[in-house]
Amino acid sequence: MRELRVGLVGCGQHALMYLLPALHYAPIQLVSVCDTNAERRLRAKRQFGAEADFEGIGAMLRGPTIDAVIACGPPDMHRAAAIAAMDAGLNVFVEKPPANDLAGAMQIAEASRANGRHCMVGFMKRFALRYRQARELAQRRAFGKTTHVSIKYAHWNCPDLHWMLVYMTVHTLDLMRFFAGELARMSIERAETAGQFTFTVQAVSASGTLVSLVTSSQEPRVKEHVEITGEGEVVVVRNVIELEYHRRVSPTKLFTSDLHDVQLLRPDFAIPNPEQNTLFLQGYAGEMQEFASACIEERAPSVTIADGVQAMRLAQLLARNTTGSFDLME
Ligand SMILES: NC(=O)c1ccc[n+]([C@@H]2O[C@H](COP(=O)([O-])OP(=O)(O)OC[C@H]3O[C@@H](n4cnc5c(N)ncnc54)[C@H](O)[C@@H]3O)[C@@H](O)[C@H]2O)c1
Repeated sequence: MRELRVGLVGCGQHALMYLLPALHYAPIQLVSVCDTNAERRLRAKRQFGAEADFEGIGAMLRGPTIDAVIACGPPDMHRAAAIAAMDAGLNVFVEKPPANDLAGAMQIAEASRANGRHCMVGFMKRFALRYRQARELAQRRAFGKTTHVSIKYAHWNCPDLHWMLVYMTVHTLDLMRFFAGELARMSIERAETAGQFTFTVQAVSASGTLVSLVTSSQEPRVKEHVEITGEGEVVVVRNVIELEYHRRVSPTKLFTSDLHDVQLLRPDFAIPNPEQNTLFLQGYAGEMQEFASACIEERAPSVTIADGVQAMRLAQLLARNTTGSFDLME
């Protein structure tokens, strides 16, 4: 398989800790790095073996030949880099959020359409190992129809509401659609205490799955809990890494415990395989593998700027409304 030649824009903390290490698990060759901060781009170039470094994306696009761009920086830089890369005929991966607001995400979608290029958005939770396993279980015949998806995503205090919604909540707004499908209606309740926010969101998908989301910036650290209910079966994922699968129980065994009824998956660090690696557990390796495969196979990636637009549309609804019920199919 040939390797995808990429240029990275934005060599900050997230790129250095997660995206660049994840490239080792995908058929990707890092060719160029770009950052307005010389120290950061030179460190990334040295540590990850790029050929060239640049201060601006324009110069990078005129430099050594690349097939695709990865952008990881402030949201408005994602928008500008995505549009510049696609105007130059390249596919692009942008970290979340794809832009600072819905209008910016829609500009990227328009550039994608106009240039016939793809923009993948870094919703890495879609590639997190346990979430993929949970979704696979939920799609099995024995699970039945997904009747309810419940998500709690709670985290530390945020500087303001916009920050909370576009940097944190956007992940779970996307996960709601990942597990339940396209949402048809949504209602919102918001509480504010000392400049921090809690939302309860109730939604129903086009296929009739009910969705409950609680998201809050009132907790000491990030906590994430997903529970998917089928018709007599349940799969629970705690803090991204631990999966609990409850099989359907025969009516004659309702009040007894059976060793076959529940299955638990946790990382097993006694075994050195990729499944125990945080880059796979959190989804960063998977998203880079998908980006590379999609570019090489000249197809759309499984998560695109259309998903980015939907997530930003939901974030905008939460920003603009303290309460209310909304038809999302209009
Ligand atoms: N998916 C996740 O789990 C996850 C986690 C953390 C951060 N992120 C995302 O990653 C992005 C970066 O976060 P970070 O913590 O690495 O930030 P950071 O501030 O450490 O890094 C951003 C880098 O971009 C550079 N930059 C800014 N504007 C630029 C421009 N116009 N051209 C070139 N370089 C430019 C900065 O100099 C900096 O080095 C954010 O959008 C954030 O939402 C995602």
